[in-house]
Amino acid sequence: MCTVTCVAPVNIAVIKYWGKRDENLILPVNDSISATLDMDHLCAKTTVTASPDFKENRIWLNGKEESMQNSRLQNCLREIKKRAEVPNEMENWKIHIRSENNFPTAAGLASSAAGYACLATALAKLYKTEGDISGIARAGSGSACRSIYGGFVRWYSGNDPTGIDSIARPIAPATHWSEIRILILVVSDSKKKVSSAEGMKRTLETSKFLKYKVEKIIPDRINEMQKAILNKDFTTFAELTMRDSNEMHAACLAAYPPCVYMNDISHSIVDLVHKYNDAKGSVKAAYTFDAGSNATIFLKERDVSEFVGVLNNFLPMSENHLNGYLKGIPIKTALPSSD
Ligand code: DP6
Repeated sequence: MCTVTCVAPVNIAVIKYWGKRDENLILPVNDSISATLDMDHLCAKTTVTASPDFKENRIWLNGKEESMQNSRLQNCLREIKKRAEVPNEMENWKIHIRSENNFPTAAGLASSAAGYACLATALAKLYKTEGDISGIARAGSGSACRSIYGGFVRWYSGNDPTGIDSIARPIAPATHWSEIRILILVVSDSKKKVSSAEGMKRTLETSKFLKYKVEKIIPDRINEMQKAILNKDFTTFAELTMRDSNEMHAACLAAYPPCVYMNDISHSIVDLVHKYNDAKGSVKAAYTFDAGSNATIFLKERDVSEFVGVLNNFLPMSENHLNGYLKGIPIKTALPSSD
């Protein structure tokens, strides 16, 4: 018997991945950039056990058994088998996978990213696979490839139809910009109505605005963002982050039927951040929203307590506001993890 346990963190995109050019291989229409969070906060933990005594492959997610006949899971297993040198004696061994998140699954908190990054890492360790494994994580969920690395990470969309060059690469370790902090404001921890996969498919097929964003806006923006990170230029980083989030959600609204992820509280957070920045006379905080109503705020460590004070004044914890506090999920402060 052989057992491996791994932990993998969540990542938050500042230039979003939204649209696949190949649905099966999970190849994106554009490059994206993210920050990987500290493992102490939001992460997935996965244990993979291989044994000659197991009769079949099985998987449990957060304690509940799920079907192995999931194409994403099968994609990951296929990719790892292609790359791994499975020892002869393990050739016919079946595996049992147990994975847990320490945060709500499918609530727009990038649970699949941490989950598949963790599975790819655990399988790579089990089968002693060398080299970059971001492509294996990508085969499970696109954004997962960025969680393989710490700090600031870029996922290159690549050009090859096989996806061989669609991999993640670190831009800079977390220590490069160590004053950056992230607050996650949990507006809702219920499951999203339209999954990311379905939402991005519909948006790509029906929203002309998404095509414009991908072709005309992102190519320059991605390089400006990388430069802003390398230069620790918070004003540019923050503006590009907010614009990219706004434009992703505008593209979603331009889908037919529209995909609506942000709610009134999300929009109140957007207003509050802009008012806060205006009041300070410079850009001190940036919001970004994934496929859900929850906000992630990027800011510098020295501004965290003031911003939280402003937040508590204007969007206090109550049934009408940030119910995430009430559900016992406080604001998380996290540093992107180092390599
Ligand atoms: C809005 O990686 O969850 O968080 O590849 O279909 O699994 P699949 O999608 P997923 O999409 C994430 C979308 C996003 C933006 C991002 O993380 O870049």
